[in-house]
Amino acid sequence: MTHTTPFGVRLAGTGSALPTRVLTNADFEGMVDTTSEWIVKRTGVHQRQILDESKGECAFELERLAITRAMEAAGIEGSDLDLLIVGSLTSEMRCPSNACRLVEAIGAQPAGAFDLNAACCGFVYSLNVADSLIRSGRHRAIGVIGCDALSPFLDYEERTVSILFGDAAGAVVLVRDDEHPERGCIYQKIESDGRGWENLYMPSRESDVPPNAPHSDVRVGCLRMNGREVYKFAVTKFQQVIEDALEQTGLAVDDVAQFVCHQSNIRIIESAKAKIGLPDEKVYINIDRCGNSSAGSVGLCLDELVRAGRITSGDTVVFVAFGAGLTWASSVWRV
Ligand code: COA
Repeated sequence: MTHTTPFGVRLAGTGSALPTRVLTNADFEGMVDTTSEWIVKRTGVHQRQILDESKGECAFELERLAITRAMEAAGIEGSDLDLLIVGSLTSEMRCPSNACRLVEAIGAQPAGAFDLNAACCGFVYSLNVADSLIRSGRHRAIGVIGCDALSPFLDYEERTVSILFGDAAGAVVLVRDDEHPERGCIYQKIESDGRGWENLYMPSRESDVPPNAPHSDVRVGCLRMNGREVYKFAVTKFQQVIEDALEQTGLAVDDVAQFVCHQSNIRIIESAKAKIGLPDEKVYINIDRCGNSSAGSVGLCLDELVRAGRITSGDTVVFVAFGAGLTWASSVWRV
């Protein structure tokens, strides 16, 4: 889907937040039967940051910090926003949404607010929805947050899933730009295939677990993953999604300043880089420090890139994610 409107959408500011507890691979060596070497080789993760619940850290707090920093960078107040979208699967309550509570926390009422659950695609799905709503002419300024704090939903006695994930939030403020119609999302895709849901899921009850499901030793209420199947899906889909985005926009790799990718697993990212021929400096990596933070990862990478001056006004940026659902998404921007 491509957009043409007489106005553009400006990425006015970014922000992010990480919790404070650092969990290293050495820590895992003392918790489960694993080695740091195995974890680094299979996933690229050296350490991840997770909630320190004794300090009151939670997804909501990470989201509040990330959007506050994005608003500061954009030079706007909460009252300037007319919508807030939180892409997350780990909002504290089923009701109300974290987005509604955040509207109160940042003084954005009566802005519209909703959480959007597309698992690891939460940020890219939300970015695409927000751009479309501004392009519709009905909204002028939208806060988008991608956040997941999966650590309370990991079984740390099981070694295959827990090693991969960290907690994080990334946020962006988007505003209508009447002077630069060329700015904003120039191509987007949001897709899913529910047939693969049982490869990555979080059962609420025993009856949610399909018969003969692997990893039945993982506690109910915790994330379960069929790593090999997810790997096969992700390694193929990731490459396809990037190739589709380039093909549909007519862009060459050289035209793109950064490919901001979900930090799923280093082997998946490296495979796509090699197959498509993406240079190291155009594919940002922080999975070594932060792990896979699900819906938090793309917004976190974006904020780190912007603050390091590696994404600036006029750049073309490709965002890509995939995850549970199964879901996948891309978003191509003229920043
Ligand atoms: N340390 C040491 N050994 C481990 C281990 C760990 N942390 N976790 C699993 N193993 C063992 C398994 O028990 C198995 O042993 P066995 O051969 O004796 O039965 C062996 O390693 C291979 O297990 P497998 O699950 O097939 O490992 P893998 O090579 O597929 O690697 C993942 C596991 C999770 C790293 C890999 O499947 C993967 O990266 N999947 C994609 C995950 C992903 O990206 N998810 C996010 C999507 S958004």
